[in-house]
Formats: sequence, structure tokens, C-alpha cells
Amino acid sequence: TPPPSPSAPYPLDPTGAGLRETAQELQARGPAVPVVLPGGVLGHAVTRHHALRDFLVHPEVAKDACHFAALREGRIPPGWQLTTFATVDGMTTADGADHRRLREPVVKALSPRRVAALRPRVERLTAELLDGLPALAAQGGGTVDLRQGFAYPLPMRVISELIGVDEEFRDRLHELSGLVVNTAIDPETVLAANRELVAVLAQVVAARRAAPGDDLTSALIAACDAAEARLSEQELIGTLLLTIAAGHQTTLDLIINAVRALCADRGQLELVRSGRADWADVVEETLRHDSPVANFPFRYPTRDLDIGGTVVPQGSPVLAAYGAAGLDPEVYGPDADRFDVTRRPAVRHLAFGHGAHVCPGAPLARLEAGIALRALFDRFPDLALAVPEADLAPLPTFVGNSVTEFPVRLGR
Ligand code: HEM
Repeated sequence: TPPPSPSAPYPLDPTGAGLRETAQELQARGPAVPVVLPGGVLGHAVTRHHALRDFLVHPEVAKDACHFAALREGRIPPGWQLTTFATVDGMTTADGADHRRLREPVVKALSPRRVAALRPRVERLTAELLDGLPALAAQGGGTVDLRQGFAYPLPMRVISELIGVDEEFRDRLHELSGLVVNTAIDPETVLAANRELVAVLAQVVAARRAAPGDDLTSALIAACDAAEARLSEQELIGTLLLTIAAGHQTTLDLIINAVRALCADRGQLELVRSGRADWADVVEETLRHDSPVANFPFRYPTRDLDIGGTVVPQGSPVLAAYGAAGLDPEVYGPDADRFDVTRRPAVRHLAFGHGAHVCPGAPLARLEAGIALRALFDRFPDLALAVPEADLAPLPTFVGNSVTEFPVRLGR
């Protein structure tokens, strides 16, 4: 296919192929770039670090979908691939006081004290999963998918315990939240996945109503059932969807993207193993260089905004292009595309967002990824990718950024 014309809106590939090249191309075009979303819907992406940082705190930028012009005017078809992002009833689509009300219980559940207290639990779960890997590799003829065998179950178990999701629901919730992020599926599948998600989450809620615990779902139910309800039933379901999906997929992708970078350049691993860099450096550099959230939907200008000479019209759905912003040469230099654990840039990446909607799960994600990576390479120092890099398939989305499988050999 011919390269998209530089003057026409850039068509985002819904299959997630070439995400890094897309990020670089968008960034070269400017700080704000017109894009074509699935279904031919027009939108924009904010691609450069400083422009994005300003945009995320701009007083005339909203997240409530009542500002989404095409949606309001009935131009978004049923089953549109990005519908859930635009309309989920929770903090990511709320502004001002509503946003604070919806976010508060989640912030409480993820307080620094609570997260710090999780450390021994995360260490134990990590050790258990590592114990199981050799048997999985033996079953797989010497290779094991590190996503399925390690990077998925760790954050999923942690977040499920925190939220109060019983084990029987976890795998299905993982599959369904993967479909919600998938930008390359058909409308029927989108609609069916959303219906099932609501049904499964209703079962999660029913289980906690019957047997409450010291978990987020029970706290949310109490807010719902209070004489002066602080939360609707739909907001309860929306909040669970957001925290379950955001609380495991991103951390899983972060762990895999970090392992991938270290396997691709063992010199970087050596820097950590010899003490010249820390595991926290690996985590931060992965977040910058290979952001698990490539493009987050959506924000809407509440009036026409000029961003670096491009007018982003009121009501346009705008992506926060975190993947592109991490590769900004104006901030990270001409070698921004290089993974370098000793980089320690003066400017902190935006991979967890910025402003009122900044990720409330960042301390938990950092804790989990740091523990997981250190323990993984301590146990299996020779761990290596078992297939050529080029064979790794991208996740079918331009929102999330990782690979569908990561087959490894464990080594000694
Ligand atoms: C928001 C990234 C882990 C829960 C965000 C945002 C980003 C992000 C970029 C801001 C989206 C925007 O408005 O533009 C990440 C990454 C993670 C991670 C890269 C892991 C590596 C987690 C975890 C949790 C979580 C572990 C929950 C336990 C949320 C929630 C929001 C959010 C609920 C919405 C906040 C709001 O709208 O006020 N995350 N996240 N995330 N994240 Fe995370």
C-alpha cells in the first residue's frame, strides 16, 4: 500500500501493525495530527511530549462523551470498536466533581500504604509462578509463552484479590477486556463482548453482595447501597471494568515489553546485573521507549484549539499518543528510539498520563513490574526469546502496545 499522503488525515492501522513506525510518522507530522479512526471516524492525535502534557491539563479539554460531536450527532455506528472507551460509565469519561466522586474509592484502594503492604504477596505469587515455568516449558517442548505462564497471571491475581474477583471469573474477564481494547474486530463481536462483560461483572458484584470482603467491589457496593447512593449500579460495573482491565493488561504488557527489550540487547541486561542500572531504570525506560498504552481514547476540546498551528475542532475525539510522546527527539534526543537503561532523562515520561486522570495504579504497576523482572532474571539468567523477533505478532490494537505471545527458552 502507498504511504499515506502527508496532507491527508493519517489512517491508523486497527491491526496494531507498525505501531512504532506510526508513532514516529505522526510525531514527524506535528504536535497535533488529524487521524482516521476505525469506521472512517475523523479524530486527532497529540504526539509530542510538551504539547501532550499541556493538552492533558488544558481547562478546555473534556473527557465526558457528551462533548464527542460525531457521537452526539448519531454518526457513530453501533458496535464501533472504540465505543467502550468513549462511553464506559466511570472515571475515564467524567470531568470535574463527577470525576472526583468516581475516582476516590479507587484511589483509596490503591493508596501507597495499601500498595506497599502488597509487596510480600506480590513476591510470593511471583515465586510460585516462576516455580511453575520449567514444567510448562517441558510440556511445550522446551519453550513456554511468558505472557500466558507469567506476565498475565501475576497482575491478574493481584488485581483480582484487591478488587474481590473470584477465580472462576478471571480468565473470561481477561479475554473480554482484550476484546474491548481490540481495534480490529467486527461490530457484532464488540456488542456481544460488551454484553457479556456486563453480565460477568454483575456476577462478580452478586458474589460480593452475598459475601463482602475487604476489597474494592465491597467498598463500591457500600457506596451504591448507602441511603444517599454515591454511585449508580451502572457506574459500579463501569468502575470494575476499568480497574480490572487497566489493572492487569497494561502491567502484563509492561513486563513483556521489558523482557523483550532485554532479550533483544543483552548488554542492557548486563548493565542491570552488574549494578550499573537498577530494575526501576528498566521499568521506567520501558515505559518511555515502548509505552504499554500507545494511544489513549479520548479527550474532546470544548472549543476549537490551536495546537502548534493545527486547529483541533471542538468535539473532535483526540488520542493521547503516549507511545509517540515517549519517542520525542526534542525531549529525549536524536537517539530517543534507542532502549538505554542508563538514560535517566531529566524529563519524566508521560506513560502513566498526567493531570487529573493520571494513572492511580502507577505505584502498583511499578511494584509488580520491578519484582517480576528482578525475580525472573535472577531465576533464569539465560532466558531468551525462542523465535525470531520478526515472528512476534502485535496485539490487534492501536490502544495497547505489546505482542500476543512471547515464547521463551528458560536456559539453565
Ligand atoms: C489511567 C497507564 C496500570 C488503573 C491511566 C492512564 C494511563 C495509564 C496512560 C491515563 C489515561 C488518560 O486519561 O489519558 C497505565 C500503565 C500501567 C497502568 C502504563 C502499567 C504499566 C494500572 C493499574 C491500575 C490502573 C495497575 C489499577 C490497579 C487506571 C485507572 C485509570 C488509569 C482506573 C483512569 C484514571 C482516571 O481517568 O482518572 N493508566 N496504567 N492502571 N489507570 Fe493506569
